[in-house]
Amino acid sequence: MENILRDASLAPEGIKKINWVKAHMPIASILEKRFEEEKPFLGLKITMSIHLEAKTARTAILLKTGGADVYATGCNPLSTQDDVAAGLATYGVHVFAWHGATAEEYHDHLIAALSCKPDIIIDDGGDLTQILCDERPDLAENLIGGNEETTTGVHRLKARAAENRLPFPMICVNDAQMKYLFDNRYGTGQSVWDGIMRTTNLIVAGKNVVIAGYGWCGKGAAMRAKGMGAKVIVCEIDPIKAVEAAMDGFEVMKMADAALVGDLFITITGCRDVITMEHILTMREGAMMCNAGHFDVEISVAEMRKRAAEVYEARRNIEAFKFENGKTVYLLAEGRLVNLAAGDGHPAEIMDTSFALQVLSAEYLAKNAGKLKKGVYEVPPEIDAAVAEMKLSSMGIEIDKLTDEQYRYIHSSNG
Ligand code: ADE
Repeated sequence: MENILRDASLAPEGIKKINWVKAHMPIASILEKRFEEEKPFLGLKITMSIHLEAKTARTAILLKTGGADVYATGCNPLSTQDDVAAGLATYGVHVFAWHGATAEEYHDHLIAALSCKPDIIIDDGGDLTQILCDERPDLAENLIGGNEETTTGVHRLKARAAENRLPFPMICVNDAQMKYLFDNRYGTGQSVWDGIMRTTNLIVAGKNVVIAGYGWCGKGAAMRAKGMGAKVIVCEIDPIKAVEAAMDGFEVMKMADAALVGDLFITITGCRDVITMEHILTMREGAMMCNAGHFDVEISVAEMRKRAAEVYEARRNIEAFKFENGKTVYLLAEGRLVNLAAGDGHPAEIMDTSFALQVLSAEYLAKNAGKLKKGVYEVPPEIDAAVAEMKLSSMGIEIDKLTDEQYRYIHSSNG
């Protein structure tokens, strides 16, 4: 099947981006050496639907080195980088994606990437899984199983499994400790601010920053906002997380109250209708909004478009909405993931860890082909631990080991 690319001539720029991250993904380099020899994916087709930027491309190449025939597509219409997609295709990976895909094109690209009838899928957000389960089960004929990268995708998977509508095994990579403790917290904490700062070119210090959602991603964004001198307000519906936010030193309040005082709003909840028109109409003149949750449903963007007297581009990736009450508010990156739609995603060293979990979980699926029942699985703890060991060694950190006596002591009931 032919690649679907916006412009193949962009490949040289994409290859530069891939080489740059390659130099900053040491765990991938360790795995590459082993995969060159062992070829754990020989004869297997792997379909990936992940934000198609340089770290994802590096991972697709790693899977190919391991013997897989790799089919790559995006998982969000605005996060695909056309130069990276073109560059990746030169490595012999089949690529089906372009930036700014319409909803229909996006769907077609996913179907194209699944048309090989993959043995393994690597999903981010759950769209590949949904197609294989609900629309095109014929394309799941060869499927051993798959992995899910993100919080939203894991929620969807667990809901599907509870309804007995998941006919194959899926590993929840998001729930590994080496994923959420670092990617969700430090990755999102940095990449969200990178996206906001490069898009707005405005100061963070002194602003009232409202963060909706105090999961691992929200915690990261709030921590970094505080570090840059913002006055941080957290909105959260889970009482335990709300207490945590308060004890971490943040103001905690309802969105209706935060809307009155916020200068910049970031939604990271995984839910919908977090900021609605009711909130928006009470916001300060010039308030800015963006989203870092997987789907573009956290801010009522469609309603904003309907109700605005005027909508115009204020700056690249920033739209101004002027309402009849005379106020203008701003929306970044169309309400899609600001760190990917208006940035390059998480730092390379972070994705190195997350994608090591992906690749090793895919290897686990390959080794256990036919042995795993349908349903959701955790990343095997030995994989989590192995990634932590490789991360420490790549950081040049050595840690103590338990002596035999210490081991016996902490595993004994006698104290
Ligand atoms: N780059 C590739 N996938 C990503 C993700 N899920 N989050 C942030 N950056 C990424």
